[in-house]
Amino acid sequence: MYSVLQPPLLRQLRCECPIMLAGMGGVARSRLAAAVAAAGGFPVMGMVREPVALIEKEVAALRAATRDDLHFAINLIPASCERALLSQQVAACLRLKVPAMVLFWDVDTALIRQLRDEGVQVIHQVGSRRDAEQALRAGCDVLIAQGLEAGGHVRGGVSTLALLPEIVAMSDVPVAASGGIASGAGLVSALALGAQAVSLGSAFVSTTEAFAHPHHRQRMVDAHAEDTVYTTVFARNWALTAPVRVLQNAVTRGDFDRLGEEERSQPIAWQDGGQPVFLFSTDSPAIDAEGRLDDMALYAGQSVGQIHDIVSAGERIRQLMRDAEATLERLETKI
Ligand SMILES: Cc1cc2nc3c(=O)[nH]c(=O)nc-3n(C[C@H](O)[C@H](O)[C@H](O)COP(=O)(O)O)c2cc1C
Repeated sequence: MYSVLQPPLLRQLRCECPIMLAGMGGVARSRLAAAVAAAGGFPVMGMVREPVALIEKEVAALRAATRDDLHFAINLIPASCERALLSQQVAACLRLKVPAMVLFWDVDTALIRQLRDEGVQVIHQVGSRRDAEQALRAGCDVLIAQGLEAGGHVRGGVSTLALLPEIVAMSDVPVAASGGIASGAGLVSALALGAQAVSLGSAFVSTTEAFAHPHHRQRMVDAHAEDTVYTTVFARNWALTAPVRVLQNAVTRGDFDRLGEEERSQPIAWQDGGQPVFLFSTDSPAIDAEGRLDDMALYAGQSVGQIHDIVSAGERIRQLMRDAEATLERLETKI
């Protein structure tokens, strides 16, 4: 084992590999988080705008599938959520003694201080120097530098390769890298640029334990980096209009731009036990989704070009670590 694959952050995250599951609403639930934990990665569950009952259920399921003292995080995006629900979610996480939180988008200083005071480890995903400065000033324990290549909601405008070293240079806490990484060689490059871990979204969507619909997983396997687009078209039911990276589909091509209000108000799919999904919604197709799945938000990073199969999350982590070791061996060869 190369020492570079065992950075000090692993002690803070209490895991064995420098691979974090990205917080992904509707995708990263207890089944995926438990599989990531079992393989030595850092488990995170995406609970953005989810009701308290689901948080309680998923935390209990994760602990039952792993152990009661598992170190894991819940991901919330304060700015995307109504204040009343956010307060309930935070209260539930504190009541459940969730040990860590991954936050994203606008930096909520008061929330970060509250969580730190309660002994919760706070990890913040940032897309710019400005967000990083605010998150550091608020007292975050770990930063995740998210580049423009990332799948899902994209905060900044700079690529991972350029953003990461700047965030590392200004940060007095460990930094993980996110966006465009789905290979061991990608992991090694992030470590070379000063990251102490990678936070992977797309690489884990395309696993057997993800809560994503098989249509979404297969489209990711079939896609290349150039098949993703950066767009603001999926804005319905978020508290703000924010850019996302998704796989191209009829919605991103503009096929529905001229639809009237009447047609826009018709559901295009149903999921989560029969909840309607509308055109331009931020919901991606969940495992039980039925309807026009290809017209939903199919979040994917430019990293999709490095994903060639749907495997278990454990196998994905083993593939990445094997590939990282092989990359380091190759780089070390003297001439
Ligand atoms: C399907 C999907 C859903 C996502 N949902 C969230 C989310 O709920 N909260 C969040 O902080 N980031 C979310 N992201 C962004 C990830 O945290 C991460 O920045 C991104 O996946 C990194 O790029 P990659 O997909 O190339 O690994 C999502 C990404 C994907 C692919």
